[in-house]
Amino acid sequence: MTDRSLEKNFEALFQHAPGVVGYAPGRVNIIGDHTDYNEGFVLPAAIQMGTSIAASRRNDDQICAFAEGFTHTIDQFLLDTIEYCHNEMWRNYVRGTLQFLRQHSDQFSGMNLYIAGNVPQGAGLSSSASFEIALLKTVADLYSLDLAGVDAALIGQTAENSFVGCNCGIMDQLVSAMGLENHAMLLDCRDLSIKDAPLPAEVAILVVNSNVKRGLVDSEYNSRRAQCEAVAQIFEVAALRDLSLDQLYDGQSILSDEQFRRARHVITENHRTVEAMAAMQANDLSRLGRLMAESHASLRDDYQVSTLELDGLVEIMSTAIGARGGARMTGGGFGGCVVGLMPEQKVAEVTAAVQQRYPQRTGLKPDIYQCTASMGAFRKQGID
Ligand code: GLA
Repeated sequence: MTDRSLEKNFEALFQHAPGVVGYAPGRVNIIGDHTDYNEGFVLPAAIQMGTSIAASRRNDDQICAFAEGFTHTIDQFLLDTIEYCHNEMWRNYVRGTLQFLRQHSDQFSGMNLYIAGNVPQGAGLSSSASFEIALLKTVADLYSLDLAGVDAALIGQTAENSFVGCNCGIMDQLVSAMGLENHAMLLDCRDLSIKDAPLPAEVAILVVNSNVKRGLVDSEYNSRRAQCEAVAQIFEVAALRDLSLDQLYDGQSILSDEQFRRARHVITENHRTVEAMAAMQANDLSRLGRLMAESHASLRDDYQVSTLELDGLVEIMSTAIGARGGARMTGGGFGGCVVGLMPEQKVAEVTAAVQQRYPQRTGLKPDIYQCTASMGAFRKQGID
């Protein structure tokens, strides 16, 4: 939706013009999955799809929120009595985010909100982080709150962990808040420091949605996280970030096979992610491709979060890409997307291979997006 139509829709619903329009993007993770909640490293980029929110202040404490495509009714509630909603999940993203924003600053009151987004849902491209961060950006601008990107990310994550019920890490919110145009970013999820990774101009990011409906995502995700924490506890370290591969192999006999493999994924994925940053800086697409292939194999075999469809897509894409670049599943897994990196001139060939071979193999139709690394949350221009 264009900004103009978002403003018009806001006006049609609330009978006045919005005061602010805020925006935050979704993300694609190039490498480093299931490492963030182990205080490790991730290398994501914000993408050009995101959530826009038009908003106006109210004179009372009421929130009136409408989310296009999710609902036909306005969610109305008072800031003092925020409750979990059991029948429409999107409402909990608004409610949870505002509840935890209030703990950071109480310098805001009621508002009207019109929310619209174009991040595919349930695809592993962080539609929910984009929703939370767009809301935080919008409210901060509407009420002139002092809210740094890192704080917004922490509030969004807390809303997911403590209100929505998904024990996600910090990656999605952080890159949605802080992303940089034409850059991926190496995030250290322990101290939340960021290193910018410029993407070479001739490198394309192709994201393919397997369109496998993700089932049991939250419960599988939460159980993976609990397994990692259990292993960290066994080794008496704060997080798997602190465990070396040698220590893990030395202690293999005190772990179950499953615990061993989960931890091995996390430890090796951290190494791969740091190495991928160096490969990106050196513009070494072949090394990046190898790391992506290893990452996918580890997510498939050790962490067990891939699916046959994702594995098939990775195989189709990496074959078409060849030696310069690679492909892997991206995000939480159990369906969702594959990310491919390749020279720009390979895009047409890889797209054609996916369009032809993926439906033959699975009976499913893929959605293909060429993504540009984009800026994190911002206030859209033209409205005051
Ligand atoms: C989801 C979570 C992130 C991260 C990824 C896996 O996207 O929200 O915090 O754990 O899965 O890397």
